[in-house]
Amino acid sequence: MIVAAGLKYFVPFLCMKCRARIFKGLRLWLMSSSVVLVFRHAEAAVDYSKEVKPILADHCYRCHGGSQQKAGLRLDTAAAARKGGETGPALKPGNPAESLLIQVVEGKHEEIPRMPYKKPPLDAKEISLLTQWIQQGADAPADEKPESTRHWAFVPPQRPEVPKAVTATIQNPIDAFIRARLRKEGIDPSPEANRSTLLRRLSLDLIGLPPTPEELEAFLSDSRSDAYERQVERLLDSPHYGERWGRWWLDGARYADSNGYSIDAPRQIWKYRDWVVEAMNRDLPFDEFAIEQLAGDLLPDATLDQKIATGFNRNTQINQEGGIDPEQFRVESVVDRVNTFGTVFLGLTVGCAQCHDHKFDPITQKEYYQLFAFFNNTVQDGHGEGSPRGMLEIAGESEPGNNSREEIEEVRQDLDRFLNMKGSEATQWEESLTPETRAKLKPNVLAALKVPWSERTVEQKRIVYAAVNPKDNEFKSRSEKLAKLEKNEPKPITTLVMEELKESRQTFILTKGDFTRPAAKVEPGVPASLHKLQTSRKPAQLNRLDLAQWLFAPGNPVTARVIVNRIWQQYFGRGLVETENDFGTQGSAPSNPELLDWLACEFMNPSAPGVHPWSIKHIHRLILTSAAYRQSSKTRPDLATIDPLNHLLARQSRVRLDAEIVRDVALAASGLLSPKMGGPPVYPPQPDGVMSLGQVKRAWKVSAGADKYRRALYTHFWRATPHPALAVFDAPDAFSACTRRFRSNTPLQALTLLNDAQFYEFSEALAKRVLAIKPSERLAALFEYCLARQPDQREQARLGQLLEAQKDDSELEQWTTLARVVLNLDETITRE
Ligand code: HEC
Ligand code: HEC
Repeated sequence: MIVAAGLKYFVPFLCMKCRARIFKGLRLWLMSSSVVLVFRHAEAAVDYSKEVKPILADHCYRCHGGSQQKAGLRLDTAAAARKGGETGPALKPGNPAESLLIQVVEGKHEEIPRMPYKKPPLDAKEISLLTQWIQQGADAPADEKPESTRHWAFVPPQRPEVPKAVTATIQNPIDAFIRARLRKEGIDPSPEANRSTLLRRLSLDLIGLPPTPEELEAFLSDSRSDAYERQVERLLDSPHYGERWGRWWLDGARYADSNGYSIDAPRQIWKYRDWVVEAMNRDLPFDEFAIEQLAGDLLPDATLDQKIATGFNRNTQINQEGGIDPEQFRVESVVDRVNTFGTVFLGLTVGCAQCHDHKFDPITQKEYYQLFAFFNNTVQDGHGEGSPRGMLEIAGESEPGNNSREEIEEVRQDLDRFLNMKGSEATQWEESLTPETRAKLKPNVLAALKVPWSERTVEQKRIVYAAVNPKDNEFKSRSEKLAKLEKNEPKPITTLVMEELKESRQTFILTKGDFTRPAAKVEPGVPASLHKLQTSRKPAQLNRLDLAQWLFAPGNPVTARVIVNRIWQQYFGRGLVETENDFGTQGSAPSNPELLDWLACEFMNPSAPGVHPWSIKHIHRLILTSAAYRQSSKTRPDLATIDPLNHLLARQSRVRLDAEIVRDVALAASGLLSPKMGGPPVYPPQPDGVMSLGQVKRAWKVSAGADKYRRALYTHFWRATPHPALAVFDAPDAFSACTRRFRSNTPLQALTLLNDAQFYEFSEALAKRVLAIKPSERLAALFEYCLARQPDQREQARLGQLLEAQKDDSELEQWTTLARVVLNLDETITRE
């Protein structure tokens, strides 16, 4: 013992080789039987199961057990401890001093920090028990079972400690995590991008529009230390922020303006689209945002807005073909709702359990139908049951028509007053009818006669009186006047909403997902592998609101991670979890798990003062102000082999713009962009013939005036025949939830930018805009409008040559050509 104590002071001053030699000698000495005998004699045998395991379970399993294996080490069985982690065996039976486990709990290892990591150290008694157990041979039962291995995504995130910053440039915890990871790999981050790149990046990312030359100038000349942060705030406050990030949400909501399937009839649900945009703008906390969309109709005293929000679940397709079984398509729409719920809010492939238990993740088929039961109680989808239900009329709002509803109402009242004077004449006539004369009456007259005169509507009175006295000229002129006005009566504005049935439908497991093969009955419930749904009510009484609120109950391991990951994905082109739609066992592991969990915790419980929980704008701010986001996106030769896909974020990523933004950038550059927000969808020009591609030929009447130049978010989206300029740039098809857009690269894209009639129109308008400027500044202006930067010398020379080559054309034609070239640049449709 004295030798050991002496070594404690002596060893630190020795080189590694000497130390190894001394330890080897010490080990030989300790291993000699006499010493062991002394120990054995002095101490009673330690019971592993009763005395050792509880210490490890309490202090170590969190990071070295089933759910996490820090440094590749598991300590939940003695065998695993013996096998060890990255540094090798954690224990050497009979030799505590050489056992890594003892070295680290005593805090004596020279590289590995004291364990438990960043937690209070074990007390002397605990350390002594561990030491004795190893000394005595580290015996353990042979049949010891490892702790169950829970997939990381099913373990709720805990706020990890932010790694210590090593340089003063790290101000943002995001960078601390990213730099810690980069340091491990020996990689340096990239320098900050230049200011014009930064502003264009910020503008495109936050509002989906390029900066104006004035905005650029203001930023370039702002020398305040927080100039960049001010731009972040300006853009977060812009109403166009809601358009950009609303579109992000609408992808998952599979929003479209038509019913899908082969008939693909138009539908009115744009009120829901506008609700999303507006909710984004006021930073409605994500929990409320989700609950209103999933169950706004079930909230006490639901407001009109909360009902409109339930359109989320009404974006399902509706099949209106003749001869179909309505029940089949009702079931399909519920399936769509369950699967969308799983994808959007849980990041899990719940839909894989529709026909059989999930083959990879812990979701049974029964649990699938328990989720199904929550969505199974809404009225039939607004068709096929007589009067449309699940369709909300927006009081006081109507589509623009030629005549106001008030005027029509006045004429109708006038006719009603007139007909009321004729009441006795009509009654006499009715009483005089014989069975024979009655039989000759038209069905609509007979139907109206069933209602007593005083209870008839104006329309019914009109039908009857037309039979009583068809020659009454006065009557005739009034009636015709009304009919003419009614033809042009403005239709009320409606929107599709969720509406619960009074009596719940029963839900059964459907064998292989087949609606004709119901099996066992199930009640509403949630998958057991996720957190519990705490309630005092019986399962049969649970409804969509319970399900929605369950998402925000403590212990939910997925939702916050899934949403912050999808926000991250927008900014870096790839999520921290690359499979943003699959956090299950088949999905990819997070590239930086601590960062993901830190962001998720910050989303749920922000540490910043004055920030409300579940604030999406808070997550934006954190990311946008990080050095990681502000890095240059230039590729680096040194990263080509270490990290070719930029998982570690040693630079920013270049991202091809979303389809809508491609249009919006060209529109903004042309000066034609209409800033109008919201309202019914619009019809910008598109190539002839597109609408005849669907089974039912539909009209596409190009919008007049400024509506021709609205942002692409407002273009009427037909599922069967989407606008080609959107489809060509990978806009989602709205058939199912889209959580990550493809980014294809095809010649059709270049051809669209160059030749599509509307892009030609944009180029011409852009040319006119540039021509209004004095000649020496035109090229610079053209570049600023499209790219938010000045052309370099090479670019000036090339474009100068192009102008020169067309000197026989008019000035407008020349500059239109130039504008077409610049609008077609890769850089124009890329966020650098
Ligand atoms: C909060 C998480 C956490 C807890 C709790 C924790 N550890 Fe660790 N452990 C780590 C981390 C992180 C490392 C890697 C440290 C490094 O290499 O810098 C590590 C490394 C180790 C290593 C080295 C493994 C190797 O092969 O490199 C051992 C041994 C170890 N821990 C033992 C323990 C023991 C014993 C306990 C409980 C008394 C414990 N740890 C508790 C996080 C934890
Ligand atoms: C519409 C019904 C349906 C859906 C939805 C469905 N499957 Fe299946 N799947 C089947 C049927 C039927 C079989 C064959 C019988 C069986 O294994 O139950 C099968 C078999 C499988 C098999 C087994 C192959 C084997 O050799 O055992 C796997 C794996 C599988 N499915 C995975 C998935 C995944 C992953 C998803 C979700 C992306 C999914 N399934 C969604 C119907 C479906």
